Amino acid sequence: MSLLHAQSVSKSFGGVQAVSRVDVQVREGELACIIGPNGAGKTTFFNLITGYVTPDEGRVIFDGQDITGLPPHRAARLGLVRSFQKTHVFPQMSVAENVQTMVLVQKKRSLDFLSTALRLERDETEELLAMVGLAGSARSLAGTLSAGDRKRLELGIALAARPKLLLLDEPTCGMSPTETASTIELIQRLGREQRLTLLFTEHKMDVVFSIAERIAVLHFGRLIAEGKPEDIRANDEVRRVYLGDTT
Ligand SMILES: Nc1ncnc2c1ncn2[C@@H]1O[C@H](COP(=O)(O)OP(=O)(O)O)[C@@H](O)[C@H]1O
Ligand SMILES: [Mg+2]
Repeated sequence: MSLLHAQSVSKSFGGVQAVSRVDVQVREGELACIIGPNGAGKTTFFNLITGYVTPDEGRVIFDGQDITGLPPHRAARLGLVRSFQKTHVFPQMSVAENVQTMVLVQKKRSLDFLSTALRLERDETEELLAMVGLAGSARSLAGTLSAGDRKRLELGIALAARPKLLLLDEPTCGMSPTETASTIELIQRLGREQRLTLLFTEHKMDVVFSIAERIAVLHFGRLIAEGKPEDIRANDEVRRVYLGDTT
């Protein structure tokens, strides 16, 4: 059974059909990717799954439950977690404090007990920082991190929420080729070592073929292909979409 099944979901904004009857399934333990050029509907699709946007039609089934229209925090509580964007990182707090905050939120500890809780959750925070390769930067201010390390921190915060399915929207966005490579390597390692189910979006084709086990291709809001990397690579329509696309 699939962990996530987006059943023929659609969303239009005014005259723009951002997502059109897209049907995608993610199986447990899988590392899946949605690719498509800019404007293809990837972010809207993520917003539909995570409850930031309600679909015009279709349903979202997660872990056996119909979660269509459920607000994001309720979906997150069920284990459907989206990587936090830059704005969710507190720049004036240290790397460790950022992760610890989410560990605490997850444990639903009240702020009154912060000082005790901070000690209790230190181990878990250290473990999460090590997992994302930030053990050495625990005391650095989050606002001073490079783009690659900030993504590591966002991943650490997302992992603190103990996701069943982790969604990453263009995790290598704005990164140098070196940072991109190390972020992709980290995502692959997390998927393998933590046995996480991961769904990420990407517009650069080369980035996904090395790690994705299954790929869905969006183009103008439509799902034009879906399958293993080798099938996607050989797909004529996908080749046409990406021919001349230098991004
Ligand atoms: N809130 C919105 N209001 C109006 N149009 C939107 C909105 N969000 C996305 N769109 C449009 O929907 C289409 C898909 O956008 P998006 O999902 O961001 O694509 P991608 O993430 O693949 O780049 C684009 O044409 C975009 O301009
Ligand atoms: Mg996007």
